[in-house]
Amino acid sequence: MSRPISITIDLDAIRQNFDYAHAIGNKSAGNNSQTMAVIKADAYGHGAVATARALANKTTLLAVSSIEEAVLLRQNHIRSPILLLEGCFCKSELSVVDDLGLQIVIHNQEQINDLLAAELSKPISVWLKLDSGMHRLGVPLIDSLNIYQRLSNSQNVSSIVLMTHFATSDIPDHPLVSQQLDSFKTAANAISQSNAPIPNSLANSAALMAIPESHGTWNRPGIMLYGISPFDQQNTLALPLIPAMQFCSKVIAIRKVNTGDPVGYGASWIAKKTSIIATVAAGYGDGYPRTAKSGTPVLINGRIAPLAGRVSMDMLCVDVTHLGDVNVGAEVELWGKQLLVNEVAQWSDTLGYELVTRMPTRAKRIFINQ
Ligand SMILES: Cc1ncc(COP(=O)(O)O)c(C=O)c1O
Repeated sequence: MSRPISITIDLDAIRQNFDYAHAIGNKSAGNNSQTMAVIKADAYGHGAVATARALANKTTLLAVSSIEEAVLLRQNHIRSPILLLEGCFCKSELSVVDDLGLQIVIHNQEQINDLLAAELSKPISVWLKLDSGMHRLGVPLIDSLNIYQRLSNSQNVSSIVLMTHFATSDIPDHPLVSQQLDSFKTAANAISQSNAPIPNSLANSAALMAIPESHGTWNRPGIMLYGISPFDQQNTLALPLIPAMQFCSKVIAIRKVNTGDPVGYGASWIAKKTSIIATVAAGYGDGYPRTAKSGTPVLINGRIAPLAGRVSMDMLCVDVTHLGDVNVGAEVELWGKQLLVNEVAQWSDTLGYELVTRMPTRAKRIFINQ
């Protein structure tokens, strides 16, 4: 038997989450909005190629972060249109964009200059990103009309979508949300006055679920496709999401420890009474966070038990005293449908986003419900 750790990806859960995301945006836009699937960072650790295949009949646009991610999809015969969310990192990438028929975000002056000067075989679909207040990417609002006109007059540009990104959409009543909405709308209106109505794109998962005013021509959900809530607190809007990743292993040792006995590196956990400790074949080398504190819930045979002591590279220990009947070989869910990754993330001072995205390739991935 090989090391009993596995990451199972339920592709039908991703399809159902996509349907949920699409239904929200489409309803508020009178059946007129489109939904791309954000599958950057290997589909947030879920497998970009498998996710793209699973969504092939549902979405007409896939969003990634780099040429390399787009090339991988094309090499695996994914024919859907692909958007580079950060655009090109240097002008030589424009010829790959041209060859592969990619769409690009334009967010800075260097990218504008490179695109306007490029010799391309055909014009490109451009997504002009405006900095409406997050101050991470995007052209300044004050320049947006001028830039829009220069791009739309270029023979290298076939169409333009105006886009922006929220800094605080996971806190929908944060004042920055309405400030960004207002700023974006003011800039978009100024551009539309001298042009036909312009398609737009604002909403990520949190905005799609909680900020209806942000719904646009194109919505851009990422994390919700994988069944993970973008919100810190429980939010009823996230209840229909189905977790797509199940991270499992097995108990590989059981021991009794006496009052005062330490468990694990650093002897940070000390038995307060005679206890039963189960050792599980999963550690930070498999993607389980080393920062998880003692007490982090672990599911053993479907029942919750607390992590005991520090997580090692290949193993972690769980206090199963109250479960009674745990043996070597017992099934362990580290996160999945029954134990949400966000709960483990909270105990580890991070987000579900980080935990799933940084999963190493060490544990085998099993794709189900293809
Ligand atoms: C520009 C852009 N749009 C959409 C998304 C998807 O965001 P989320 O995963 O929060 O839905 C991201 C992800 O970071 C992004 O950078």
